[in-house]
Amino acid sequence: MNQDLLGRVALITGAGAGIGKETALQMAARGATVCVNDLKDELVNAVVDEITSRGGKAVAIVQNIASREGMREAVQRAFAHSQRFDILVNNAAWVRYQSIPEIAPETIDRMLDVGFKSVIWGLQEAAAVMDAQRGGSIVNVASVAALRSAANSVVYSGIKSAVLGITRAAAAELGERNIRVNAVCPSAVPTEGTQRNRNAERDANRIARTPLGRLGTVEDIARAICFLAGDDAGFITAQALVVDGGITLTNI
Ligand SMILES: NC(=O)c1ccc[n+]([C@@H]2O[C@H](COP(=O)([O-])OP(=O)(O)OC[C@H]3O[C@@H](n4cnc5c(N)ncnc54)[C@H](O)[C@@H]3O)[C@@H](O)[C@H]2O)c1
Repeated sequence: MNQDLLGRVALITGAGAGIGKETALQMAARGATVCVNDLKDELVNAVVDEITSRGGKAVAIVQNIASREGMREAVQRAFAHSQRFDILVNNAAWVRYQSIPEIAPETIDRMLDVGFKSVIWGLQEAAAVMDAQRGGSIVNVASVAALRSAANSVVYSGIKSAVLGITRAAAAELGERNIRVNAVCPSAVPTEGTQRNRNAERDANRIARTPLGRLGTVEDIARAICFLAGDDAGFITAQALVVDGGITLTNI
């Protein structure tokens, strides 16, 4: 794999599983020191061990990034490790799909804390430390649900749409400080988090509607995140990169 992230320090939230974990593995393979964040020791340590066993560099950051203090601590620890901080991937999410009458205040609060507020806390903290080295790259993991919505996803779709708005506004504000802010919009890919909402029939239906004729994988999404994070995307900011095999914008 090319070493385009050699010497960079990257913090990935929710990197104990799914898309975040695969992004951590790929960024480490590209030479970055990866700060692996998640809620539980065992999740984080397993990813750190996997990276180091492959010869990569990783730092464990067990932290709830849903609070401002938690995100601050995570960014500060990532920076403290080698006095630099180049990449933030706002990936963590806590998701429940509920019909409109089912939506409860505590569901909205938790989804907002993890999926919306943490993105803003991340921007705040990361931008402050990136200033010291005159730049950096932030990638927010949104969803195709920001572009095309299904039933039972009022809160999820609302939050992911907001993440795209945050991405554009932050790109406008941080560009003069050489901080790029982009988003990826994955379609459904099999992960621990999506397990409970998948079944064979639903997958087959999705594949039939996808021009590229398959489901996406965490590898597909992680490659797009790595691209946006690195110098190959050096003149790209305020974008939402849709990684979906074509399903969202076509009708086949
Ligand atoms: N998998 C998909 O189909 C899909 C599609 C579109 C968008 N996304 C988005 O991609 C991102 C990752 O999704 P996934 O399917 O890999 O999720 P996942 O549930 O498999 O993994 C998410 C990780 O985030 C961690 N996490 C949750 N709350 C946290 C907190 N407060 N602090 C730190 N870590 C926390 C979880 O412990 C978990 O390990 C999410 O933003 C999701 O909305 C996923």
